[in-house]
Amino acid sequence: MLERLGMIGSGGIAATLLEALACELPAPLSRLDCLTMSDSMATAEALLQQYHGRVADTVVVHDDLSTLLGCGPQMVIECAGHGAVREHGPVVLAAGIDLAIISTGALADEALHTELLQWAGATGVRLFLPSGAVGGVDILAAARLSGIEDVVYTSRKPPQAWRSTPADQLLNLDALSSETIFFEGTARAAARDYPQNANVAATVALAGAGFERTKVRLIADPHVRHNVHEVSVRSGCADFHVRIEGKPSPANPKTSLPTAFSIARLVLNRVMAQVI
Ligand SMILES: NC(=O)c1ccc[n+]([C@@H]2O[C@H](COP(=O)([O-])OP(=O)(O)OC[C@H]3O[C@@H](n4cnc5c(N)ncnc54)[C@H](O)[C@@H]3O)[C@@H](O)[C@H]2O)c1
Repeated sequence: MLERLGMIGSGGIAATLLEALACELPAPLSRLDCLTMSDSMATAEALLQQYHGRVADTVVVHDDLSTLLGCGPQMVIECAGHGAVREHGPVVLAAGIDLAIISTGALADEALHTELLQWAGATGVRLFLPSGAVGGVDILAAARLSGIEDVVYTSRKPPQAWRSTPADQLLNLDALSSETIFFEGTARAAARDYPQNANVAATVALAGAGFERTKVRLIADPHVRHNVHEVSVRSGCADFHVRIEGKPSPANPKTSLPTAFSIARLVLNRVMAQVI
């Protein structure tokens, strides 16, 4: 049973995750240790203190991974970004601690992905990949076993959400009056060219047909208010289409709310008698 949880990151996802855990945990964990950047320590302390006694009996903020690992977490959850996966992921797994990562786009780097799996294998722990902002990962991962014939992930966002990406050079984002597809390619190429949007493409690829066989379409659409993720699959056991319109996280509008709830689900599945 999970009693000691580690968390990397204290931003928008962390805030929603902690509130969900405070509402749903049947009893507080014994400890919660959070790693954040040195310049975010005060904000992180203020956030975690709100959950002292509600999420865990002891809450401590760290700016150094080794002191966090010294507190004996049974599982560490990354909700910080691709850099944090690269910097801390191998160290957590090498220490023999389960790791859940939400910045799955980092795994488009094959060398890093291989290194993480090698450490998990060597120490006998596991790498968990929550579904994040997308849906249908359960049936996609099941359908993979029956053979995937075709999988297309479409990311549709309001034009301004593509600001400061290569789409800014390809399109006049301010002038779009209809939906415009500006990228079609593999999940690998999408993760390389649009790293800020790589997480969902990576999760779909890892659950299903892999980075080379997962097709990605990126669309700027002036008719949508929020980020819309669609996954269309033909497989040996089922054909399906999933559409998720995520609501933005209040603390970070670039992140949609289901992301944090998917991590809360993972944690609760480590605590509750029933796993779903
Ligand atoms: N899988 C998905 O569907 C999905 C969806 C949205 C976001 N994400 C990922 O989640 C990440 C976090 O999202 P957010 O909305 O909470 O972001 P945020 O910017 O609100 O918070 C990030 C937090 O991480 C901390 N941080 C950053 N780098 C760190 C490091 N190297 N070590 C320790 N702490 C570090 C920051 O200080 C901050 O507290 C995003 O960067 C993205 O990669 C994944």
